[in-house]
Amino acid sequence: MNTPNTAVAVMGAYGHTARFVLAALRDLGLDAIPVGRDHDRLHALGSRSRVASADDPASLDRAFDGVAAVVNCAGPFADTAVPVVEAALRAGAHYVDIAAEQTVTMDLLSRFDGPARQAGVAVVPSMAFYGGLGDLLASAALGDWPAADDVRIAIALNSWRPTEGTRRTVSRNSGRHVVFTDHRFVPAPTTPTTVTWRFPDPIGEHQLTGLSSADHVTIAHHLPTPRIGVHINTGPLADLADPTSPPPVPADALGRSAQTFHVEAVVTKGAEHRRASASGHDIYAISGPLAAGAVAHLLTHHRVGALTAGALLDPVGFLRSLDPVHLSFAVDG
Ligand SMILES: NC(=O)c1ccc[n+]([C@@H]2O[C@H](COP(=O)([O-])OP(=O)(O)OC[C@H]3O[C@@H](n4cnc5c(N)ncnc54)[C@H](OP(=O)(O)O)[C@@H]3O)[C@@H](O)[C@H]2O)c1
Repeated sequence: MNTPNTAVAVMGAYGHTARFVLAALRDLGLDAIPVGRDHDRLHALGSRSRVASADDPASLDRAFDGVAAVVNCAGPFADTAVPVVEAALRAGAHYVDIAAEQTVTMDLLSRFDGPARQAGVAVVPSMAFYGGLGDLLASAALGDWPAADDVRIAIALNSWRPTEGTRRTVSRNSGRHVVFTDHRFVPAPTTPTTVTWRFPDPIGEHQLTGLSSADHVTIAHHLPTPRIGVHINTGPLADLADPTSPPPVPADALGRSAQTFHVEAVVTKGAEHRRASASGHDIYAISGPLAAGAVAHLLTHHRVGALTAGALLDPVGFLRSLDPVHLSFAVDG
């Protein structure tokens, strides 16, 4: 019997979020191989690491030789996603990324479904806090309904200490935001919508503002609905906009910061509502088990084409598997 190939290349491996992805892959028994463009920083992650840069296809081919999957953590993804997907497909490896960039995720889903099928692998963008968790919660809440009249995601963060990669990504993607309404993507309104949302105590009631997040793109890709709304409390957006906000610092044994998140998805059909929610610590840290879980699933189930979290995984089963170590999960019914 052949030994299964569990080698997984992690691009951008010495970045902040990649370290959580590497740890989560290893926790699942996978052979995580750090890949990045700075030899010295890579070397600190172990001798098996491989040097490659997103703008050097030959270096990517060497780095991805023999791997079963690639997790791209090198953002802004507007600069790295296409060359890294193309190299993954040349290597016959599944591709998963943690992009929060709407236009990048839309582009990958539309351009690479056919090529991924031809290569016999899957391309799974935005398998992270933004894009992944909201999609999983909306899909979990949907349950056995074939469609919804409306999907709403509400996010409460107690703070946001942004990484350097987040700051670079925000400025790289300025002015490229969309929302999903009347069955289609339209440019985000210049003045975001607001809603009043009642979260469970102790978070309580908050005035939320519209967020053009990757969740619009990942949910719209597979969940039949005319309208998706994503809203967030305003405090973390003020932190993000403040150039003096410090980066995240570890506060627990898993290296997570003290940041808390609570995310709810409410799907509506006629007068009926269904809800699913998840809470935990650190939006960067939770992206590790989300991306690693997708990889583990791809290595054991034969899935091909361009997919997002809610269509790839059994959303309820997967979110329950993360509870209680990585998050707390609840769903109606
Ligand atoms: N969807 C979500 O919820 C979510 C969650 C976490 C992170 N993210 C995204 O993930 C990305 C990384 O975030 P982070 O917090 O980990 O940032 P980070 O700590 O700054 O790490 C970024 C990593 O990407 C590498 N990189 C950047 N551009 C590259 C290029 N052109 N070629 C090769 N490597 C490149 C960097 O290497 P160098 O130092 O050599 O440049 C570094 O290793 C950001 O785009 C962020 O928005 C999204």
